Amino acid sequence: MQLKPEEISKVIRSQIKYYENAIRQDETGTVLMVGDGIARVSGLANCMAGELLEFEDGSFGMAQNLEENSVSVVLFGSGETISEEQMVKRTGKVVSVPVGETLIGRVVNALGQPIDAGGPISASEYRPIESQAPGICERQGVCQPLQTGIKAIDSMVPIGRGQRELIIGDRQTGKTTIATDTILNQKGKDVICIYVAIGQKRSTVASLVENLEKNGAMDYTIVVAATASEASPLQYIVPYTGCAMGEYFMYQGKDVLIIYDDLSKHAVAYRALSLLIRRPPGREAYPGDVFYLHSRLLERAAKLDDAHGGGSLTALPIIETQAGDISAYIPTNVISITDGQIFLESELFHSGVMPAVNPGISVSRVGGNAQIKAMKKVAGTLKLIYSQYRELESFAQFGSDLDADTKMRLEQGARIVEVLKQKQNAPVSVEKQVAILYAVTKGILSKVVTEDVELYEEGLYIWLDTDARGAEVMQVIRESGKLEKETEEKLKSALEAYTESFLDTRIQK
Ligand SMILES: Nc1ncnc2c1ncn2[C@@H]1O[C@H](COP(=O)(O)OP(=O)(O)O)[C@@H](O)[C@H]1O
Ligand SMILES: [Mg+2]
Repeated sequence: MQLKPEEISKVIRSQIKYYENAIRQDETGTVLMVGDGIARVSGLANCMAGELLEFEDGSFGMAQNLEENSVSVVLFGSGETISEEQMVKRTGKVVSVPVGETLIGRVVNALGQPIDAGGPISASEYRPIESQAPGICERQGVCQPLQTGIKAIDSMVPIGRGQRELIIGDRQTGKTTIATDTILNQKGKDVICIYVAIGQKRSTVASLVENLEKNGAMDYTIVVAATASEASPLQYIVPYTGCAMGEYFMYQGKDVLIIYDDLSKHAVAYRALSLLIRRPPGREAYPGDVFYLHSRLLERAAKLDDAHGGGSLTALPIIETQAGDISAYIPTNVISITDGQIFLESELFHSGVMPAVNPGISVSRVGGNAQIKAMKKVAGTLKLIYSQYRELESFAQFGSDLDADTKMRLEQGARIVEVLKQKQNAPVSVEKQVAILYAVTKGILSKVVTEDVELYEEGLYIWLDTDARGAEVMQVIRESGKLEKETEEKLKSALEAYTESFLDTRIQK
C-alpha cells in the first residue's frame, strides 16, 4: 500500500488541532478501614457530601460523613472484595440515576439499573437523586383530583394532584392494596405511576409486579425496588431515586403518582446506616436528622403553577404501625409533614370492612378543593350521616327500644358501611361512585335489605353502562363534573327505575 505524505500530514495536523493541553487529574484516596457495609477513606480532601466514589474492584459507594482526616463511605455492594490500602477514586458527581420515558414499564433497582427481563435501559438523561424541592413561587394550590377509584377514599378523604397523603396502619390492613388499586385506576388517565418498594421481600415485589402486569398497569408504571436482602444504603436512597424519576416527568408538565412503600422500613435502614458511620443516636436510636430524612423527600411532591408547566407529583407514603400506635416517633413525624392521612384499622379489616379505612380519624387537608362538584355534593351529606351513625351506634347497643327515627338512621348507616366496602383490583369510576352514594344518602337504597347491597351495586354498574337512561346521566356527570338540578332529577329517576327492577328479580327468587 502506498502512503501519501500529504494524507499523513493532514492527519497529524488534525490531531494537533484537537490536542487538549490539560492534565486530567483524578483525585484518589486510600481505604483505611472497611466492614459492615461502610468504609473509611483518607486523602479525599475535596470530596462532596453524597458524592459517588469508585473503588478498585469497580464497586461504588456514597460519601456520607466528611471529617477532618477521613470520609465515611456507605457501600452499594457487599464490599467483600474491598480491602484496606486499596485506592478510591472520586467521580465528581453526586449519585445520579437514569430518568425518562425508557424507564416506563420497567423494574429497576435503587441505582436505576434494570432487574427485570427487559434488557438494558438506554436513558439519555440522568438526574441527581437529591435535589431541591420546588420553591413557593413555582407552586400552585392543589386543585385537581387524583381519583383512587376507591369509594371510601374518593368520597371522604379525597386526594388532589400534588398532595402528600399518608397511608398508615398495622401490617396486613390493606395499605399496599390501596396503593396498587390507585395505580390501576390511573389507566388511560395520563398519570405516570412510580411504585417504590423499600425493604420488602422479593416475592412480595414480584407478585405485585405480576398483578400490575396482569391488569395492564405496567404500561404507565415504573417499579423501583430495594428489597430486604439489599444493603441498607440502597434501601436508604431508593425513595430519592424514585422521586428523581418522578420529578423529571413533573417538570415536563406531566402528572405523576409516587408510592413509597414503606417509610418505616426506610427509617430503619437509615438508622442502621447512621449507627455504622457512628452518628450519635437519639430517640429510639434514630439519628437526630431522621425528621429531615422524610421531610426533604415529601417536600418534593408539588403541583407546579402554569408558568412552570403545571405538572404535579402526588406522593402516597406508607407507614406501618405497631399495634395501632400512631404516637411512635416515625409515625408522628410523617403525620406532621403530610397533608392528611388515611388510617387503616386491623379491627375493621378483620370484621370484613375492606378497605379498612376509619373515616372518623382519616383526613385530607387539601383534597376537598379537588373533588368534582358532583362528588362534593353527595359526599358532603355522606360524611354527616356516617358520623351521626357511628355516634348512634355506640349508645344504641345499650338501649332496647329505639324510636323509629333512630332505627332508620341505624339502618341507613349499615347500608353506607356496606356500600363503602370494595374488593381488591376493582376501582370504580367517579360517576358510578356518585350514583351509588346518591342512592344510599337519599334513601333509595332503604328498600333493599342490607345483605343485598353488594348484589345491588354490582348490578347497578352494569345497568348504568347498558341502560339508555343510566348511560345518559353518567355521561353528563363524567363530562361536566356537576350534578345540577336537572341531572339530579334524571339520576334519581334512573336509580328508582333500576331499584324497581332489582327488587322484582329478588322477589322472584
Ligand atoms: N379490599 C380488599 N378486599 C379483599 N382483600 C383485601 C382487600 N384489601 C386487602 N386485601 C387482602 O389483605 C391482605 C393484606 O393486604 P396488604 O395490602 O398486603 O396489606 P399491608 O400492605 O397493609 O400489609 C392481602 O392478602 C390482600 O389481598
Ligand atoms: Mg404492604
